[in-house]
Amino acid sequence: DGKFITLGIESSCDETSIAVVADGRQLMSDVISSQIALHTVFGGVVPELASRHHLQNINSVLDEALSEAGVTLDDVDLIGVTNGPGLIGAVVIGVATAKALSFAKDIPLVGVNHMHGHVSANYIQYPDLEPPFMALIVSGGHTNIVEVTDYNECKVLGGTRDDAVGEAYDKVARVIGLGYPGGPKVDKAAKDGNPEAVHFKRVYLEKDSLDFSFSGLKTAVLNYINTEKMAGREINVADVSASFQQAVLDVVVDKTMMAVRNMNKDRLVIAGGVAANSELRRELKEACHKEGIRLYAPEPVLCTDNGAMIAAAAYYKYKKEGADDLHLDAYADLSL
Ligand code: KG4
Ligand code: ZN
Repeated sequence: DGKFITLGIESSCDETSIAVVADGRQLMSDVISSQIALHTVFGGVVPELASRHHLQNINSVLDEALSEAGVTLDDVDLIGVTNGPGLIGAVVIGVATAKALSFAKDIPLVGVNHMHGHVSANYIQYPDLEPPFMALIVSGGHTNIVEVTDYNECKVLGGTRDDAVGEAYDKVARVIGLGYPGGPKVDKAAKDGNPEAVHFKRVYLEKDSLDFSFSGLKTAVLNYINTEKMAGREINVADVSASFQQAVLDVVVDKTMMAVRNMNKDRLVIAGGVAANSELRRELKEACHKEGIRLYAPEPVLCTDNGAMIAAAAYYKYKKEGADDLHLDAYADLSL
């Protein structure tokens, strides 16, 4: 019916996801096959297993995405696929699938930077949102404060010098026995804890810096746990979760708001798996409200990895730059 149909393929980490999106914004389907059960026993994502699982599941995820949307491949006008950054073996499965479909059905193909994908989840949630705006991108692999200057384009103002926020959550979850996937478990446990129970140092780095450092925090939590255990004291997982989370979020919220102020922007977008965090959302909402800034926060299922965000990013990239060819490569590292 005249709509431009984009298929979005995402396989960079532990979700195999394919979505159908109309006109770059309207969600027709977004099928997400999570590998949580597979990796839980190992306490984290095992790259080889992730690749194999993507390979085993991607065709059925595709069938489901198409049928849920009520379309066939003949209706698809564009294929977008994450071609980095991510676990290389996992990224390759999505890229190879996208290329095969593109070649077989003669459909244009576009490679999408996973991080631009995360930002683009907001275009689906908020049909009227257009760049420019400020964005906080927080995931398992990345932590960035950026100015989004155009679709799939941004200026990086700050980033982590060691661990990403999600990585810090995952590592701490392991240390306190909450296991994988750490972020959501710490989020939940922290709700029953006292954020002032244990003081962990807030790391701000140089004055005015928009960079982050979280690697010391994991060690601080580990040292605290060991000290308590040696003294024969019981660990209160809720209190440690809440205290750790507060140490992270104090810095993340302060720096994000500082960046928004410095850049004189009135809109802030959050993106990436950690943007699903309930306390981060609550605190940013409050801070933005105080300063008259509009906060855009996609619903949690659009924050964590999904095909819809890749379709949205692909649509705008294609409109601006056209298609990629079948030489499209996959990258473990791909900068913003
Ligand atoms: O964006 P994403 O799904 O994958 C990457 O691109 O990395 O983000 C996954 C990360 C993981 O580190 C996970 O623990 C974290 O996001 N995460 C959360 C929450 N949900 C997912 N962290 C804190 N609170 C949450 N509710
Ligand atoms: Zn992601």
